[in-house]
Amino acid sequence: MQQKISRKFEELYHTHGTFYTSPGRINLIGEHTDYNGGFVFPGAVDKGIVAEIRPNGTDRVRACALDLDSASEFGLEEQDLPAESWARYIFGVCREIIKRGGRIGGFDTVFAGNVPLGAGMSSSAALESTFAYALNDLNGLNIDPFELARIGQATEHNYCGVNCGIMDQFASVFGKAGHLMRLDCRSMEFRYFPFTPTGYKLVLLDSRVKHELVGSPYNDRRKSCERVAGVLGREFLRGATMEELDAVKDRISEEDYRRARYVIGEERRVLEVCDALERGDYETVGRCMYETHWGMSKDYEVSCEELDFLAEQARECGVTGARIMGGGFGGCTINLVREDLCDEFVEKASRAFEARYGHAPKRYEVVISDGARKLC
Ligand code: GLA
Repeated sequence: MQQKISRKFEELYHTHGTFYTSPGRINLIGEHTDYNGGFVFPGAVDKGIVAEIRPNGTDRVRACALDLDSASEFGLEEQDLPAESWARYIFGVCREIIKRGGRIGGFDTVFAGNVPLGAGMSSSAALESTFAYALNDLNGLNIDPFELARIGQATEHNYCGVNCGIMDQFASVFGKAGHLMRLDCRSMEFRYFPFTPTGYKLVLLDSRVKHELVGSPYNDRRKSCERVAGVLGREFLRGATMEELDAVKDRISEEDYRRARYVIGEERRVLEVCDALERGDYETVGRCMYETHWGMSKDYEVSCEELDFLAEQARECGVTGARIMGGGFGGCTINLVREDLCDEFVEKASRAFEARYGHAPKRYEVVISDGARKLC
């Protein structure tokens, strides 16, 4: 990928720059908990964004998205918001750095990636983290890594219309090969957990469907959680119990009740999974994953028919754990599957899926890898 980028960079700008990369992520468990002040349990993957960048001595950015064969040029003032949606991620990162007092000038860049788009693996966080990390490094700004993650998150909020939590950007910046990270999204304390599930594999099955729902269903879920937290007199749903929730049941809508019930259950499951992993108890990990899936499907309503189908296939094939991964509304299931069962499961599930939906899901093996860094 670097070679391809380098050739284009030379063709466009007649020089060379520095290479940076940031990964996408998986999340073993802890979905829609980050903006509720709860725990998440992600890891960075070996798929990400690579960018070549060079300051150009002007106040303008010239950017080329190689995979999309699209170019954009923009200034660094608030009114310079580019028209191309992919360029808004880069523009947003620049603006968020500037708003925090960082001095950056214009630059030239070409980037490409291999994080599947729309698969729930956070290609957008990979893009934000690549540029936040690179601009910090190239300009000697000394921004701390948590702030780099927050810059990516603020980009989503302020320039891309998604009121996301911190998980994706955190994982992309802090990832470590062979380790998952349990992050407490209230205190921002985190711990690395070695993740080498002997005898098991993590496999993603990408349904290759992305349901664009009317309005903004993600932001809408977040609002439900905030409403219920408000009724409970809490800042976040984190720490609320089912007893507390039941006590206010008739003061909230049935929909908000179900959504909060999912979040409270998910909170408990993340901790249960971390404990189980330390004991090497993959059966418990797997059971929790299925519970998450059906909670996200029935209570939180962020699944879809295709992903429910894949989770059912996994159960029928004896897969240890399976669930929808990421924000929802399409994308992948993440499957914890015994090594000796893996190929058989993927084949069987793919065949059944194709017979029903007319296309086969895509399979990705997960390699837990390092976070944002400079290359070469
Ligand atoms: C998206 C968001 C994250 C998180 C997940 C759901 O990936 O960007 O902040 O909320 O959805 O867990």
